[in-house]
Amino acid sequence: MSVSDESGFGRKLVENRLVTPEEIAFCENRREEIEKNGKPVTLLDVLISEGYMTRSQLKRIERTMDDDSMYRPAQQIPGFQIMSKLGQGAMATVYKARQLSLDRIVAVKVLPKRLSENQEFVDRFYREGRAAAQLNHANIVQAIDVGEAGGYHYFVMEFIDGQTVYDLFQKSVVDEKKAINIILQTAMALDHAHARGFIHRDVKPKNIMIGDNGDVKLADMGLAREISDYETAQSEAGRAYGTPYYISPEQIRGEINIDFRADIYSLGATFYHMVTGRVPFEGQTPSSVMHKHLKEELIPPDHLNTELSSGVGEIIEVMMSKARDERYTSTKELIADLQSVAEGGPPFQARKMYDQHVLEDLASSGVTVASATPLDLDPSLVRKDAGNRLAILILSVICMLLLLANLAQFIMSR
Ligand SMILES: Nc1ncnc2c1ncn2[C@@H]1O[C@H](COP(=O)(O)OP(=O)(O)O)[C@@H](O)[C@H]1O
Ligand SMILES: [Mg+2]
Repeated sequence: MSVSDESGFGRKLVENRLVTPEEIAFCENRREEIEKNGKPVTLLDVLISEGYMTRSQLKRIERTMDDDSMYRPAQQIPGFQIMSKLGQGAMATVYKARQLSLDRIVAVKVLPKRLSENQEFVDRFYREGRAAAQLNHANIVQAIDVGEAGGYHYFVMEFIDGQTVYDLFQKSVVDEKKAINIILQTAMALDHAHARGFIHRDVKPKNIMIGDNGDVKLADMGLAREISDYETAQSEAGRAYGTPYYISPEQIRGEINIDFRADIYSLGATFYHMVTGRVPFEGQTPSSVMHKHLKEELIPPDHLNTELSSGVGEIIEVMMSKARDERYTSTKELIADLQSVAEGGPPFQARKMYDQHVLEDLASSGVTVASATPLDLDPSLVRKDAGNRLAILILSVICMLLLLANLAQFIMSR
């Protein structure tokens, strides 16, 4: 590749989500500055010296870009006629295609060659792809097939004619009722998957699709992630992938036993973005965003959107608790709260969890609380100090004495 192809190369890097347009613009400015000082440099040199890419990453990319077939590999998949490109993610390219045998439109996700060289990943891709094809739910993009052609591995799935939740909130925040409905349907998809041992691990606005007929469909269920969450988080920190706005704290920490609660956190972060128009944690770099997921207190969503009902705010805060045992203890509980709020009621479970944690915090801070206190009491009512307890004791004794006196009078009057 010649240096004169630089702007095209920059565009390819952005298209492949390896760097952001802002990062390219920043490096262009840097390059001009350096050149003004009389030292000619290329954009690639600046990308490397500023730490946006490593030399070996660039080498790999140059190789794949010279290989023109990378941009039309799916045309070589037998049995499918490729119609158009639907989109490009960090890991793969998705095409609209006609499945000739059944004469139907499908979506085909094609992995780049670099992933096909990783045998462990390819094995996992097949194993999980086949397992995902067993899942069948109205709110899950149906997995159809996995295969390999011409050295490319691909995944065939139901084609959704519509847009993603990401496209939906580009214009404005999503109306509360509409957002509850989308999150509820996604939660139903997750509940189906969770009950069968699947954890999505990558719930985000771009993986929730809305068909033109209004159907909500969760995409990429059961798709093997390229690498472990920890490595993803690390490479995201190294700017190779998108910013981790929706990832759970335990995935960032690289814990191995990720469970359904990671999906609940990510769905909560998606819900937050939909109703406030802002991601839960913003930062200059992916690592600062991840640090905030771990440490920074969430700005309550109803502080950003004051028209939001308090029920929705409570649900999101419970979903996004940093400690997973403070989130919903099942996806069904989340569904029950969403249904209740959709009907204008309160989120019973979120309130119960909130009160429970207030009580636990009080207990751990040394304040004794009556053990028989019902969990769904307003926490301010159960905050009793020693003086209060004494007053209650005296009142109880007086009540007892009055009762006895009444009883004695009653017996004597007979
Ligand atoms: N089943 C599908 N039907 C229609 N379009 C799809 C389908 N799956 C993915 N897409 C489109 O392709 C894009 C790229 O998908 P993907 O590679 O999963 O990356 P990401 O989810 O990060 O966007 C999506 O954003 C979406 O617009
Ligand atoms: Mg996707």
